[in-house]
Amino acid sequence: MTSPTVPERLVIEPPVTPDAPPTRILQHPVPDATGRYMWVYLWQAPLRAMHWIAAIAILALIVSGFWIGRPFFLPNAQTTGSYATQWARLLHFAAAYLLAATAIVRVYWLIAGNRFERLPALFPLRSRDWRNMIKQILYYSFIRREEDTPKYVGHNPFQQLFYTSLYAAALVMVVTGFALYGLATPDGLIFGMFNWVNELLGMQMVRFIHHVTTWYFVIFPITHVYFAMRSDVTEHGGGISSIISGGKFVEASHRYEDNP
Ligand code: HEM
Repeated sequence: MTSPTVPERLVIEPPVTPDAPPTRILQHPVPDATGRYMWVYLWQAPLRAMHWIAAIAILALIVSGFWIGRPFFLPNAQTTGSYATQWARLLHFAAAYLLAATAIVRVYWLIAGNRFERLPALFPLRSRDWRNMIKQILYYSFIRREEDTPKYVGHNPFQQLFYTSLYAAALVMVVTGFALYGLATPDGLIFGMFNWVNELLGMQMVRFIHHVTTWYFVIFPITHVYFAMRSDVTEHGGGISSIISGGKFVEASHRYEDNP
């Protein structure tokens, strides 16, 4: 019997030994190793679960929300006998409860999480953070070099403010959303808890704010994914997979502002 042969394209050249890294993998040259990387565990399981559940809920809320705002906007949409809007509302309200549940987990994790997840990590509190934020923005604008930009293991001050603004927008959506939702049952608990918002702003204004803020959730993921991909390319740390595995690689030789 002949022994199975390794397909040529899987050959790693030369064979890997601890002190000799491969020069080619899958026929592609491996770039020279730069720096010394170490793996750090940043995002714990509840935060990662919350991230993905919230992402799915927000996607469902955007799609169903735009349908609720302008039902049957598609050309030739069949309106008679269709329950599409009822289904959209059901999806919207189910996803809304899911989003509110993830918000509760996140608030708890602001206290219970590790130091990269807790409340201070979400706000650039020190004046040094604000100075570093300007440097970071210049770096993102291709005006400042990476090696001259302060480094953070967790979120840099720009990301801190960026993510905090998302939480603020989510709060606006939950408060205005539940205020609208409560109107259907004026003797219910939700109405009792949130109708002050309608009384304060007027129902149409609440609806308007709910609609306009939706656009923030359309723009945010695009920029969020751009910055995540950008840092993966420039920092080589596997930051994108950190929101699945929990950890990423950082260069051991660098000085980190949030890990003195
Ligand atoms: C990121 C989160 C959310 C997004 C993107 C979103 C989006 C939308 C949009 C675009 C509309 C249509 C507005 C209009 O033009 O009239 C809408 C309606 C509505 N949303 Fe949301 N929403 C979110 C969260 C919530 C939450 C947490 C609730 C809480 C229950 C909620 C409850 C409602 C209600 C009650 C309506 C009106 C439904 C109707 O008139 O039948 N939304 N939402």
